[in-house]
Amino acid sequence: MYAKKLRQNLRKNNKTHRRSKRTMQNKISAAITGVSGYVPEYVLTNEELEKLVETNDEWITSRTGIKERRILKGEGQGTSVMAAKAVSDLLAKTNTKPEEIDLVICATVTPDYFFPSASNLICKAVGIRETASFDLAAACSGFLNALATGAVFIESGRYKKVIVVGADKMSAIVDYTDRTTCILFGDGAGAVLLEPNDEGVGVQDFILKSDGEGCESLMQKGGGSAYPPTHETIDQKLHYIRQEGQSVFKFAVTRMADISAEIMERNQLTGEDVRFLVPHQANKRIIDATASRMNIGEEKVMLNIQKYGNTTAATIPLCLWDYENQLKKGDNLILAAFGGGFTWASAYVKWAYDPKK
Ligand code: UT7
Repeated sequence: MYAKKLRQNLRKNNKTHRRSKRTMQNKISAAITGVSGYVPEYVLTNEELEKLVETNDEWITSRTGIKERRILKGEGQGTSVMAAKAVSDLLAKTNTKPEEIDLVICATVTPDYFFPSASNLICKAVGIRETASFDLAAACSGFLNALATGAVFIESGRYKKVIVVGADKMSAIVDYTDRTTCILFGDGAGAVLLEPNDEGVGVQDFILKSDGEGCESLMQKGGGSAYPPTHETIDQKLHYIRQEGQSVFKFAVTRMADISAEIMERNQLTGEDVRFLVPHQANKRIIDATASRMNIGEEKVMLNIQKYGNTTAATIPLCLWDYENQLKKGDNLILAAFGGGFTWASAYVKWAYDPKK
């Protein structure tokens, strides 16, 4: 039954894809013309976590692949502080003036405030004035949803320079007495610049999916309009992440592998054509399963989970930042993510530039 529905969906998606490909011909695509990142200085190691909860380095490493993560310290320091550092470096690296930017999208589930948005604060910090900016929440798939949104603005011809940020301060919503979640998450920010391109490089395709049936399995229940902060919500620890690890794991393994295979199939790509898989960094075992389904070896998988843990919306741009010097113009990348919602997504990107000296 499920397989039949999957086949029907695939046929429907491929049809829409072929139609949009036809109309896309002679059109501009959105090229990533620069990438930057920022991670805080403080390193929280597995050894330090052993002092906080009943866990050990061997368990964390073998079950997740994580060795350490970065934590943003300091009163009043929110997600936008890290994101602004990444964006400021991105502007400098790409020789872009703040006034040239048309749009800033920040994917995050840990904005500094409900409002103003983190993107408003980023713009203020880096001197981008009177420009479109907004936040986008799709948990761990946030960056891919934001990338797709930014790409569509570029493809339409409406905007020429779009900054897409993925940033999260997960330490703000982690319960450091809960060993099932506190070992997983870290803080960080990554950003890319999107510009129009007519040479055939840039964002080639994306698939975005969500299913609210998964909402109870991974969520921060308190603090929003359903359960505004009260003494009771604090006592019940509703402001922290709660995750049913095993059920999320099962969905993540199949959905991330399926959506990566789907985007490869409809773009006629085999494992050999792919230079890098750029996976969301939630668990090394999920990443390995996705790579194996795509038929690509581990040397072609971007991996930095060991040093940053799961930074939610920041994992994919932080990978691109770490591996930027290994990328060449024309390289085929498959980006894939799975997270709260549930949300899952993939993108096929042709890298747009050679390593910058
Ligand atoms: O990015 C958003 C999407 N999130 C994900 O993709 C995460 C998906 N889930 C996972 O990555 C994994 O489920 C976890 C890493 C969260 C957990 O790994 P697991 O292999 O699924 O472990 P488990 O939950 O089945 O727990 C196995 C055992 C349990 O003990 P018992 O009941 O067998 O005695 C846990 O209590 O391990 C215990 N355990 C720990 N032991 C030492 C759980 N956390 C820890 C810990 N240290 N930190």
